[in-house]
Amino acid sequence: MTTQEASIDEILERYPGSPEYLIFLLQDVQKSYGYISPDSMQLICDRTGVPESQVYSVATFYQSFRLEPQGEHDIKVCLGTACHLKGGQRIMDELKRRLQVEPGETTPDMKFTYTSVNCVGACALAPVVVIDDEYYPSTTVKKLEKQIKALSQD
Ligand code: FES
Repeated sequence: MTTQEASIDEILERYPGSPEYLIFLLQDVQKSYGYISPDSMQLICDRTGVPESQVYSVATFYQSFRLEPQGEHDIKVCLGTACHLKGGQRIMDELKRRLQVEPGETTPDMKFTYTSVNCVGACALAPVVVIDDEYYPSTTVKKLEKQIKALSQD
């Protein structure tokens, strides 16, 4: 957590302590910490009075919530139809080979997490890779390799 990010106490103080604010709390915690830790989840339960099993169900139902720490760089490979047809799967395979972890996992050095996503709305630029919210159009294995190398050194 950086100094600009809110502490869990600050986040909990933003909303009244009732179940209707569960999603907002989860979103804010994730925004600050990158994921929702078991401790954060427990504090949210205490604050809202929602049972832990229910908070867990909500957090796992929405794909946008993460329950594991994420790598410094978030790589999303589009595997929507256009990107798949233009080599998206090759890019996924290359990431797996290079990073030596499965999709959704984080490298042991906490540098990279990668996943596949469905259409990111830029089909004309297929295949698309989104790294830290920046779109990389017409990605090739070679371009991706360069990008990974550059990010590995920062
Ligand atoms: S299928 Fe990848 S951007 Fe649409």
